[in-house]
Amino acid sequence: MHHFAYRDGKLFAEDVDLTALADTVGTPAYVYSEATLRRHLRVFADAFAGADALVAYSVKANSNLAVLKTLASEGAGADVVSGGELQRAIAAGVAPEKIVFSGVGKTGDEIAAAIDAGILQFNVESAAELATIDAIAQNRKRQAPIALRVNPDVAAGGHEKISTGKKEDKFGVAWADARDLYAKARAMKGVAVKGVDLHIGSQIDDLAPFETAFTKIGGLIADLRSDGCTIETLDLGGGLGIPYGEGAVPPHPDDYAEMIKRVTAPLNVKLIFEPGRMIAGNAGILLSRVLYVKEGEEKKFLIIDAGMNDLVRPAMYDAFHEIWPVAENNAEKTKYDIVGPVCESSDRFARDRAMAPLKAGDLVAIMSAGAYGAVQSSQYNTRALIPEVLVNGGQFAVIRRRPTFEETTALESSPDWLG
Ligand code: LLP
Repeated sequence: MHHFAYRDGKLFAEDVDLTALADTVGTPAYVYSEATLRRHLRVFADAFAGADALVAYSVKANSNLAVLKTLASEGAGADVVSGGELQRAIAAGVAPEKIVFSGVGKTGDEIAAAIDAGILQFNVESAAELATIDAIAQNRKRQAPIALRVNPDVAAGGHEKISTGKKEDKFGVAWADARDLYAKARAMKGVAVKGVDLHIGSQIDDLAPFETAFTKIGGLIADLRSDGCTIETLDLGGGLGIPYGEGAVPPHPDDYAEMIKRVTAPLNVKLIFEPGRMIAGNAGILLSRVLYVKEGEEKKFLIIDAGMNDLVRPAMYDAFHEIWPVAENNAEKTKYDIVGPVCESSDRFARDRAMAPLKAGDLVAIMSAGAYGAVQSSQYNTRALIPEVLVNGGQFAVIRRRPTFEETTALESSPDWLG
């Protein structure tokens, strides 16, 4: 459930009139509902009430500092995948002992920074990374807490580009190598084995692949314990899907939690979760204005001022996003291709979308854009990064402002020989 709804025919974010917001902030802009962010975190956390569980929000989904601060104030930990995300999480007030560090390509500097910060655990993705962490930690006379991310070879995920748990994927340690690598880890002076980690994909709309993978991991934990390994934590990753208005309706967090409690009850571990999309996805919209209506030979195009550089999901993953007119309109629908200004045919948000007629100047809201929206944006076509706005009840604040042209180009310089 989110807090974007019509009141007297006008779309509001909580108690803020989006038409007025667009006039003040300009378009395109991302608009997030703080109440929705808090609600999603609580729904997820409450589903595991009574279990020893840490919700480590996956920072990659939306890493704006104000968003992180909101979630940190609700007690969230953080799942980070870079030194930059680690710095963001700490700056936003996430306690280091609630931070896990995932990712296949951690650099030496990033590993050192995370050891110094005192994070909860590294989710280690290869033998080579394990050796690197061991060496860096020993050098600092520390022991780095680790879990191995094991690859359970289970297919899941809303799109081939966001499936991670198959053996041909680059993620995790091969299932067949896991026990040997745990034995090696236990012999290393610079690492302390804490647990096991997995993450099988994103936008998963069915409990079955989760249950298959989590059951499999339970078997591995039993094997590791019989090998003499102490396993205290089990990180089950993220991946729970959200409703985008098309396709299957994903399970409710309560059902997800019920299955997990059942499968993990005998294991006696602290559970860690890394939800991203489930927290931020439906807490944000991309607010955009119609620039032109173009009658093509075969189609009608709505050309809006947001582009694929602002929200790449439709172009990159063929993702479906609902698009709502900001002024409610019950006129008979007509079909549009809704496109952006970027010079690429893939700069299309929707194809043959039935909408009540719109005209230049009208506002639209691209829904479910709070996760993997702003964070994946770019300045392609030298389009300035767009503002992000946080709504709280009847108030709103710009939490990332639009950079000027000078700021956009500030890091560029010309060598002397160009005169
Ligand atoms: N943990 C790990 C190790 C991950 O790789 C991811 C997402 C998550 C947690 C969070 O997954 P979530 O709960 O958000 O599904 N850009 C794509 C999604 C990429 C997901 C990458 N990893 C999209 O827009 O659909």
